[in-house]
Amino acid sequence: MIHFAPMDDIDRIMTVMQAAFDPFYSESWTRAQVENTLALGNCHYTLIAESGEAAADGEQAVGFALTRSVVDEEELLLFAVLPQHRRRGLGSALLAMVRRNAHMRGIKRIFLEMRHGNTAESLYRSNGFTPIGQRPKYYRAKDGTKIDAITFSLDIDAH
Ligand SMILES: CC(C)(COP(=O)(O)OP(=O)(O)OC[C@H]1O[C@@H](n2cnc3c(N)ncnc32)[C@H](O)[C@@H]1OP(=O)(O)O)[C@@H](O)C(=O)NCCC(=O)NCCS
Repeated sequence: MIHFAPMDDIDRIMTVMQAAFDPFYSESWTRAQVENTLALGNCHYTLIAESGEAAADGEQAVGFALTRSVVDEEELLLFAVLPQHRRRGLGSALLAMVRRNAHMRGIKRIFLEMRHGNTAESLYRSNGFTPIGQRPKYYRAKDGTKIDAITFSLDIDAH
């Protein structure tokens, strides 16, 4: 398989992935899913260090984002910060990096699907995202409960 991301970057993504997502919602991805997505060529990842800067080679990543771009739009596929590093602004800093990187690629709009009730909602709203739609029963929790998704969008040029 061709890898467009170094293996140690995939390790750093997976370390955050395995600790950050609540298994009840089955939202985390397997390593194979991440590798296959990054091999598509239109998917990008961002790693953030504890300092709030982009994680340098070999430095521990405390958060990551994974996005997929199509023409001038980019979808935020995964976004997470390690539990012990939350509520210190790293999520917002990571989102700002995603936005800057997308802007440099000529992206005009970022969008994402969020599980209804996720605490990330206030983070997205305070960073300029607005809800543009709802997908009823889009997610399925471990107990079979179906949960709506809210689609959020950010017009990059307007911010
Ligand atoms: C969502 C997530 C990335 C936020 O990371 P973070 O580093 O805590 O984010 P920030 O510190 O930048 O938070 C920014 C703001 O978002 C809001 N926020 C974040 N987490 C919150 C929580 N648990 N409860 C209430 N508000 C919260 C607050 O307004 C916060 O600002 P404040 O701390 O000044 O009040 C993190 O909680 C996470 O990894 N969650 C699990 C994975 C996930 O659900 N990802 C989103 C998928 S759509």
